[in-house]
Amino acid sequence: MMLLGTQRVNDHGVLEIGGCDAVQLARRFGTPLYLLDEDCFRQTCRGYRRAFESRYPDVLIAFAGKAFLTTALCRIAHQEGLGLDVASAGELHTALKAGFPTERLFLHGSNKSPDELEMGVHHRVGRIVIDSLPEIADLQSVALRLGSVADVLVRVTPGVQVNTHTHVQTGKVDSKFGLCIVDGSAREGVSRLLASPNLRFRGIHCHIGSQILDLAPFREAAEMMLDFAADLHADLGVAIADLDLGGGLGVHYQSSDQPPSLDDYAETVVSAVRSRCDARSFPLPRLLQEPGRRLVGEAGTTLYTVGVVKHIPGVRTYVSVDGGLSDNPRPALYGARYEAIVANKAAQPSTQTVTIVGKHCESDVLIFDLPTPSIAPGDILAVQTTGAYNHSMASNYNRLPRPAAVLLSRGRADLMVRREVLADLVRCDRLPGRLRKPTP
Ligand code: LLP
Repeated sequence: MMLLGTQRVNDHGVLEIGGCDAVQLARRFGTPLYLLDEDCFRQTCRGYRRAFESRYPDVLIAFAGKAFLTTALCRIAHQEGLGLDVASAGELHTALKAGFPTERLFLHGSNKSPDELEMGVHHRVGRIVIDSLPEIADLQSVALRLGSVADVLVRVTPGVQVNTHTHVQTGKVDSKFGLCIVDGSAREGVSRLLASPNLRFRGIHCHIGSQILDLAPFREAAEMMLDFAADLHADLGVAIADLDLGGGLGVHYQSSDQPPSLDDYAETVVSAVRSRCDARSFPLPRLLQEPGRRLVGEAGTTLYTVGVVKHIPGVRTYVSVDGGLSDNPRPALYGARYEAIVANKAAQPSTQTVTIVGKHCESDVLIFDLPTPSIAPGDILAVQTTGAYNHSMASNYNRLPRPAAVLLSRGRADLMVRREVLADLVRCDRLPGRLRKPTP
């Protein structure tokens, strides 16, 4: 059994997280329920910062809010001295509502709307990350209209292939994201920026993918980015103040996963940056990181209540839970694999292998072949490593209300997102006038 963060099995044989009994949490808040182990999240934020700050003079770690964003998590990220990467008006609005300092916000998006650009300039976010050539003229005119000067980074695609699911390989040449180095558009973007009076070029950004478990692609990306910086220097006479290498470091979903340690990762990135800068006698740029999954993934657990158990002799046992695709689309989208613990039987040995399925009108498999003790309706199943891209990707498919999210720390459990109720599901529905009359 894999225990992550503050997870442990208590004297009653029940899974405990953040000093809270998972079965009592299920009773108190209902299921499905997202749990966030606050101490685990904070420790990981600190470990990430320490790994870089102990090796490099000028670093900012920005939490990639797309992984899991609530106003409470913005507050924690701020308390932990992080910046925040936001990728839409909604993420930016959440950060603003939480009072996140705008100079530590990074505004991303491959197709930002005029309103998003305007919000970014108006609120003076720390950096707006340019993702395409047309965006440069659009942003220049927004900044001019608002009488402002925006600090920008250019997102480039360094052309690094990584060994992760194709849906989350984002740094290759064949990508909708960013400006390509090899076809010259990244250089063209920088040159246009330098000619835009209301935009200040601050540096370059890349993000090569997600749930990456090898270090080599990170080294390669850092080197390619600095080679590109050297070309910019030679061709356009410009230096980069910021080098933003994105996020992407993987986590444990299964006991067999072997994500690199934060120290090994930081060492790889920092040594690549240092050696490339030394070789060219460049001053070290500020180094930016945008981890999402690595900071919050392992801190999350989802609790479900077991319902129907269907045993097909000689074939398979299906164990249905009260959520599924709508609270965790990752198995369906990416073939993601999870592990889980029967929270009320956490000390019992596994005696069988079951398949955990959700309640949606789909095959909706959450976990194939999970070893468990004997399992029965009413048991509480705790699926691990659901902190990243679960709550943030949840939907109302089949009109399921989205679950609550609870922050756990040292025996305290506090709601950070309330559970949706049935009324929320029809809140945005409007009945056109011609449908209001009762049908005869
Ligand atoms: N920065 C940028 C510009 C990004 O696009 C991303 C993630 C990150 C940082 C954070 O990456 P992380 O450290 O979390 O790997 N929904 C997918 C993951 C999509 C990631 C998209 N970009 C999943 O559930 O696996």
